[in-house]
Amino acid sequence: MSRIVHVNGALLPEDQATVSVFDRGFLMADGVYEVVSVLGGKLLDFQGHMTRLARSLGELGIANPHDEATWLELHRQLVAENALEDGMVYLQVTRGNPGDRDFAFPPKELPPTVVMFTQSKPGLADNPAAHTGWKVCTLPDIRWHRRDIKTVQLLYPSMAKMEAKARGCDDAWLVEDGFVTEGTSNNAYIVTGGAIVTRALSHDILHGITRAAVLRLAREAQMTVEERNFTVAEAQAADEAFITSASAFVMPVVEIDGATLGDGTPGKLARRLREIYLEESRKTAV
Ligand code: PDD
Repeated sequence: MSRIVHVNGALLPEDQATVSVFDRGFLMADGVYEVVSVLGGKLLDFQGHMTRLARSLGELGIANPHDEATWLELHRQLVAENALEDGMVYLQVTRGNPGDRDFAFPPKELPPTVVMFTQSKPGLADNPAAHTGWKVCTLPDIRWHRRDIKTVQLLYPSMAKMEAKARGCDDAWLVEDGFVTEGTSNNAYIVTGGAIVTRALSHDILHGITRAAVLRLAREAQMTVEERNFTVAEAQAADEAFITSASAFVMPVVEIDGATLGDGTPGKLARRLREIYLEESRKTAV
């Protein structure tokens, strides 16, 4: 079934949904994106994703084309048009189409380009990988230094994902100055000495919306959370590890660069957090 895609206010069959070759998103990766998960036709952590979208756009000086209420309407419209039950809504906003290529930004009045589409993933919350866990490989983090802005410059994360797969891993954890930053498209955690350890927020990592929810829920469940750097060696010696993202929720990690964690099965805390997160986010879905 062909999808209905949103392009600048119009709902179009996907084969008619196009943007200009002069679009700044295409030529310069000059744009930002968000991914909101959908379970049972409802949007998870919606407000968090829209708050981060506004921040990403603000950091790049791109005008936010819609207020939160309008974004919600547009998301709901696309979910309904595509009869989406479980999956994701992807949205991208670029600096627009100046009609030519130039390093200098176009005038502020140029309207941004907005594209939104759905990705259907039936049974998204019942991903069998959650029962076995991911293997991760580490790779150097050579991305730019504003990883807190959710830009569409995803070439290196994409290359790292491919390299990880070539090495028999499910994903790569990126490492800078000896410390893990995050996964290619997720935040990284270990459980050691009874504490959940994850890198603190800065320009070095994306401020994950799932991260914020999971850390809040962990603290509410009286779990200890330490926001600090950790090394690959500390991770390999940890009791558990996991990642979080809008599309994977909480995904246990059972192996890091060939070192097995615990008994090689998903850890207790990771499994518990996945349950709590899914339960809570279904309750607050809109
Ligand atoms: N990726 N870190 C990076 C580099 C990411 O790309 C993502 C999200 C996250 C987790 O953020 P959140 O919990 O808000 O999804 C962390 C999305 C899912 C993607 O690119 O598809």
